[in-house]
Amino acid sequence: MKKMIALALALMMVAAVALAGAEAALNTVEAGKFTYSTSPDFPPFEYKDDDGNIVGIEPDLMVKICEKIGLEAVPMAMDFDGALLAAQQGKVDAVVSGVTVTEERKLVFDFADSYTTITQAIVSKDGTVTQEDLKDKLIGVQRGTTGNIYASDDFGDDHVAAYDTYTLVFEALQNGQVDCVLLDDAVAKQFIAMIPGLAMQPTDYPIEEYAFGISKGNTALLEAINGALAELIEDGTVQAIIDQYMAE
Ligand code: ARG
Repeated sequence: MKKMIALALALMMVAAVALAGAEAALNTVEAGKFTYSTSPDFPPFEYKDDDGNIVGIEPDLMVKICEKIGLEAVPMAMDFDGALLAAQQGKVDAVVSGVTVTEERKLVFDFADSYTTITQAIVSKDGTVTQEDLKDKLIGVQRGTTGNIYASDDFGDDHVAAYDTYTLVFEALQNGQVDCVLLDDAVAKQFIAMIPGLAMQPTDYPIEEYAFGISKGNTALLEAINGALAELIEDGTVQAIIDQYMAE
């Protein structure tokens, strides 16, 4: 009899744990989905393939993370500024867009753990524009990016031309409407590979850390993403995805 009671108690506990697990399903903007804003003008991190699908390091990573946490990854394309705002306003669950962790942004997002780093580089038509030259140049940037912030802070808005997408920034460079572009070096390399003639110079701006900006206050989601991300870093998946896109 005692054994029967013990068994019944054990079964009830298993059921209770299972129920608690089900109740703790992640709370997201749309049930069962992880909706994220992204500016897909940013190869190799996020861009549109020939069929218009949003692909790149981060969309691939997001699919892997979401498999682990039981959600479907759903990207929503918008300009970078809009992507930041959408997550800040809780219209999406996160901004996943090569976002650099900054003190200002920490006030409006809960950043997941960082998974890679970059630094700023200068791209110009013949690759001769250096950091010392910037004070005399018109610098093309994507609006709202760290490149925009550095250029405006250091040289004044008169020296800055801000565009909504990097596609437009690089068109302006090719048309001679700006002298150079200040942007993340990993992305600079991709544009150089795509557009003949362009070349880049390094800068001594600080190293920047990329992380997903989770809509503030969703601690369960943040922890789930960090848990999945840690596993994917540990087993080499993150590096494999980065290597795959950097090589292309
Ligand atoms: N890392 C830079 C920043 O956070 C640029 C990000 C731009 N991202 C994009 N998908 N266009 O400001």
